[in-house]
Amino acid sequence: MDIKIQPIKESKISQVDFNDLKFGSVFSDHMFVCDYVDGKWQNPSIVPYGPITLDPSAKIFHYGQSIFEGMKAYKDTEGNILLFRPLDNCKRLNISAKRMVIPEIPEDLFMKGLKELLKVDNAWIPTNEGSSLYIRPFMFATGEGFHASPADEYKLIICTAPSGAYFSGKVTVLIEEKYARSANGGVGFAKAGGNYAAQFYPTQLAIDKGYNQVVWTDDNTHEYIEEAGAMNVFIRINDTLITSPTSDRILDGITRKSILQLAEDNKIPFEVRKITVKEVVEAAKSGELKEMFGAGTAAVISPIAGFGYKETDYDLPEIENSYASIFKEKLLNIQYNRGEDIHNWSVKV
Ligand code: PLP
Ligand code: COI
Repeated sequence: MDIKIQPIKESKISQVDFNDLKFGSVFSDHMFVCDYVDGKWQNPSIVPYGPITLDPSAKIFHYGQSIFEGMKAYKDTEGNILLFRPLDNCKRLNISAKRMVIPEIPEDLFMKGLKELLKVDNAWIPTNEGSSLYIRPFMFATGEGFHASPADEYKLIICTAPSGAYFSGKVTVLIEEKYARSANGGVGFAKAGGNYAAQFYPTQLAIDKGYNQVVWTDDNTHEYIEEAGAMNVFIRINDTLITSPTSDRILDGITRKSILQLAEDNKIPFEVRKITVKEVVEAAKSGELKEMFGAGTAAVISPIAGFGYKETDYDLPEIENSYASIFKEKLLNIQYNRGEDIHNWSVKV
């Protein structure tokens, strides 16, 4: 399918301070748009970034049929554009689509649209350390009507934002005792917009108490650590790295599985198993809890400086040669094409 390109009349890039980028708050000149109408994805085009018009009865507004992805493009010193495991994002978008009864997007169409967009907005990919181009593909129901059933029309948009770090400063988390992000049989494994909306209230309560994010526990007993609001969670007890298995309730993070592979490659002991809050609290008390960190595309690897649980705060002092720093360096080296990439995760555009 040919992609029509409608270039912007005047680029906004000169208004952007690339030395002071926040996360996801300025947007590149163009976006990729594709419509699902008459039972097929069609009219792929690259158009100037800007508002879209929808009918007030579009089902996205009423029933929340909406999913998204998060990925990044990097530039190496030779100016090559690189993506990290992009097909994994496309496959996960389609896993989310299936669960939310949104028609799946053909992988070749998604990849072609994404690559063309990056070529058109090449100049927007930051080159300064710590910055990259955050890519946000999303699909939502544009079909009309108040009937509570899946829409018959959808839109895929991919837009991008030159971005710096997701967190500014140290990350502290509150381990949740009451609210749940997801439940067995639910949509926690999907990147459905509603999962994030449902997190906002308990996360705001945590922010009001001085924490940055909530670490979710299982909805049934609240005894097991699951994941954080925008990242999977890793816990190091003595020398062993532990992370919860993915499930119906937990997003199968691409950073998470890359870290597990790197741990295996580098003979760092790790366990994928359920871990109780009790075990973490006891390890914190005995000094065996060496580190905790979150992992995700936006957050990269974010060391957790402390956590709160049942009105008590536990600090995690910084340590030398932390696993977080080792994995972060290895990942960034692959993402920026500076190091060996034995699994061919980095894809040149
Ligand atoms: N968990 C949640 C809830 C997320 O939103 C994210 C971010 O995408 C992750 C985990 C990490 O996933 P990934 O490493 O694929 O970005
Ligand atoms: C990502 O890491 O790409 C995410 O999707 C997190 C997002 C909620 C900011």
